[in-house]
Amino acid sequence: MNYQTLLTSLEDNIFIITINRPEKLNALNKIVIEELSEAINEVYNNPEIKSAIITGSGEKAFVAGADITEFLELDEKGGEALARKGQQLVFDKIENSPKPIVAAVNGFALGGGCELALACHFIIAGENAKFGQPEVSLGLIPGYGGTQRLAQLVGRNLAMQLIMTGEVIKAENAEKYGIANKIVATDKLLDETKSILQTIHTKAPLAISKVIEVLNNFDHTQQGYDFEIKKFGECFATDDMKEGVHAFLEKRKASFHGR
Ligand code: COA
Repeated sequence: MNYQTLLTSLEDNIFIITINRPEKLNALNKIVIEELSEAINEVYNNPEIKSAIITGSGEKAFVAGADITEFLELDEKGGEALARKGQQLVFDKIENSPKPIVAAVNGFALGGGCELALACHFIIAGENAKFGQPEVSLGLIPGYGGTQRLAQLVGRNLAMQLIMTGEVIKAENAEKYGIANKIVATDKLLDETKSILQTIHTKAPLAISKVIEVLNNFDHTQQGYDFEIKKFGECFATDDMKEGVHAFLEKRKASFHGR
């Protein structure tokens, strides 16, 4: 599919989605949100795609936030609709994707850009990555899931501090706080991210989908454990589980077919 604001390519079953408005630091305007939604639909529906990477075009930014130029025309209902639509069309759809979607963060990931990275299943950061939720500087709060996902990741108190100060943190601190899993040389960012995904591609796809579902429901309540038990049981109804166990017992490499 051809997009106005995205570049996409399929390499070794990895769908690379590059947000391509470098002159506006890849800010998320209405068109980007709609096109990202379409691109994520491709991830869900195209059997050739086993996983995806989201990254930004140019050397400066992953995504420098929601497009601020679209804010002034909005009233309370409009603001709520913007956040709800974005969350449903893009952020929740990324989080709930049955195939891994990883953020390769090159440069600024601010506001909606930080939230976009947080919605992905994990984050690999280039050395030049910078993360922040500066919405309070604009009289706003994060609206694309940032309060929830950041607090879940770094804990309530650090999320409070980061969101209340709007501080922009460097890759080293993002790694230290558990926001980014790994920092790599910026010019190796895509290759390193692809290499992690290629390892994941050797595993059972249905098991990977269930890992995503269960970890997305991670909590310390009985509901979380019960959900895990249910999803664990479901694995036993798959050919992949039988193949994986047989392969181990027969000391050979498993061949998974996603059934
Ligand atoms: N929305 C719309 N446009 C944006 C944008 C955003 N979130 N972030 C950057 N841009 C635009 C700038 O307006 C500028 O456009 P122009 O050349 O037409 O003036 C262009 O991208 C380049 O940005 P600029 O500010 O000149 O780059 P810089 O290197 O001086 O600063 C940042 C980089 C990221 C620090 C700065 O752009 C910034 O603070 N952006 C907003 C971050 C933010 O608040 N995000 C949360 C939004 S809710």
